[in-house]
Amino acid sequence: MTDRRQFLKASVLGASVSMLAWGGKLVAGPARRMSATAGVRVVSTWDFGVAANRAAWTVLGQGGHALDAVELGVQVPESDLSNHSVGKGGHPDRDGHVTLDASIMDADGNCGAVAALEHIEHPISVARRVMERTPHVLLVGEGALQFALEQGFRKQDLLTPEAEQAWHEWLKTAKYQPSINSEVRDYGKTGRPGGKDNHDTIGMLALDAHGKLAGACTTSGMAWKMRGRVGDSPIIGAGLYVDGEVGGATSTGVGEEVIRNAGSFLVVELMRQGRTPHEACKEAVMRIVKKRREASKTLQVGFLAMNRAGEVGAYAIQHGFSYAVCDAQKQDALIPSQSVYTTSYS
Ligand code: GLY
Repeated sequence: MTDRRQFLKASVLGASVSMLAWGGKLVAGPARRMSATAGVRVVSTWDFGVAANRAAWTVLGQGGHALDAVELGVQVPESDLSNHSVGKGGHPDRDGHVTLDASIMDADGNCGAVAALEHIEHPISVARRVMERTPHVLLVGEGALQFALEQGFRKQDLLTPEAEQAWHEWLKTAKYQPSINSEVRDYGKTGRPGGKDNHDTIGMLALDAHGKLAGACTTSGMAWKMRGRVGDSPIIGAGLYVDGEVGGATSTGVGEEVIRNAGSFLVVELMRQGRTPHEACKEAVMRIVKKRREASKTLQVGFLAMNRAGEVGAYAIQHGFSYAVCDAQKQDALIPSQSVYTTSYS
């Protein structure tokens, strides 16, 4: 009964706020009856979010659960060998190891995560097992791998020939010293943030037909990172946060800056105080920029948020961040985020 009430509320609110979320544009066509998928929505970061959303929709469109949808959705880029910043095919660290970070969270505060996990194609599914089958939230490195193998995940080599070649190229000039945003310097075609090739994490948020929210976040982290480096993606409150009473948020970009500001938690708390998702994401970005104004000119961070009514917003430091939206009306929408620096570098 409670679920049904929440669903109806989400449906009505979702239908009305979608006008706000996309600049007041209504989809032309015959009047729709309120369907089982009205108010149901999935959003995710970057252009590769379009295919991930489509996979998530196979669950959501059938009345399935948001948690199942986000797990299935982000598995798509995790398996995409042409994606060098998520899952198998990701660029390695400075020593040639592909290490993966992921987290998952539901509307009731249940969460699980893995960090610096090697040899497993779907870190998001290991994160879910941590959530559901252990008393812990975060497993790292060898321990995370041991747990994954005990759970029946297959051990495999994640370093593709293409990623290995890119690593060897990098090694020709690499100096072994900590350097923020090394992937941008080496992989943005123009050497500037926001370029086509330097985006990273997939963060996904879904609202299901039961009015429940869930989120997932997964990445191979920054290319050429120091061995053992962990970014924001597996840190609950940094790369991902969901609160069923308020909404969810996720982040992409330089994880260190997101961790410093407990970014996704901040976005959710700002929404709790009455900000729209767009306003909350913008405020979180401005906190980063204000604290580290010079550094912010050459790094990217983007936040994506959805409140429990299904209203969506995003904001980034640099031009170039986009997010994908899928609901009953918009199946493959890719929406450019607003940003602090609006110059186009691409
Ligand atoms: N946002 C991904 C990372 O910094 O690892």
